[in-house]
Amino acid sequence: MKVRLFFLKTSWLVIIAGGLLGGCYYDNEETLYGITTCDSTFVSTFNTDVLPMLEKYCNGCHAGSSPSGDISLDTYSNVSNYVSNGSLMGSIRHDPGFKAMPEGRGKLSACDIKKIQSWIDAGAANN
Ligand code: HEC
Repeated sequence: MKVRLFFLKTSWLVIIAGGLLGGCYYDNEETLYGITTCDSTFVSTFNTDVLPMLEKYCNGCHAGSSPSGDISLDTYSNVSNYVSNGSLMGSIRHDPGFKAMPEGRGKLSACDIKKIQSWIDAGAANN
């Protein structure tokens, strides 16, 4: 009986350890995925890459009826205004002279910033 209990406990440990290891593998895959999509040949599109990122990191403040700073980033035409005047990248890159965004939170990852930049470099199309 004692032996059986021991085995039972051991197998639980294995399952738990497996779960943890599995978690690590998942993280690694995510990192790798980030690297591959951030290579110099990757070009983002507005609807697939840029808008979802803005929705996630910015539009808690920059959408709706009274957006922060009176700046809406919820549609292509709204976003293009801030691409043209340079404040979108200026604020995301924390360039001097621009308000650092997202306000009160950490800077976006280098990978995410690069994704937005690649879309702008390719002409900032409504794609
Ligand atoms: C917690 C709310 C909040 C979040 C999240 C946020 N912003 Fe802002 N943003 C503001 C406020 C408030 C201002 C106006 C600041 C001011 O004028 O003092 C502003 C201003 C700006 C400006 C004008 C900056 C300038 O110097 O002209 C841009 C562009 C901008 N935000 C883009 C973004 C982007 C892109 C994101 C996401 C990566 C983002 N914001 C996330 C609140 C936020």
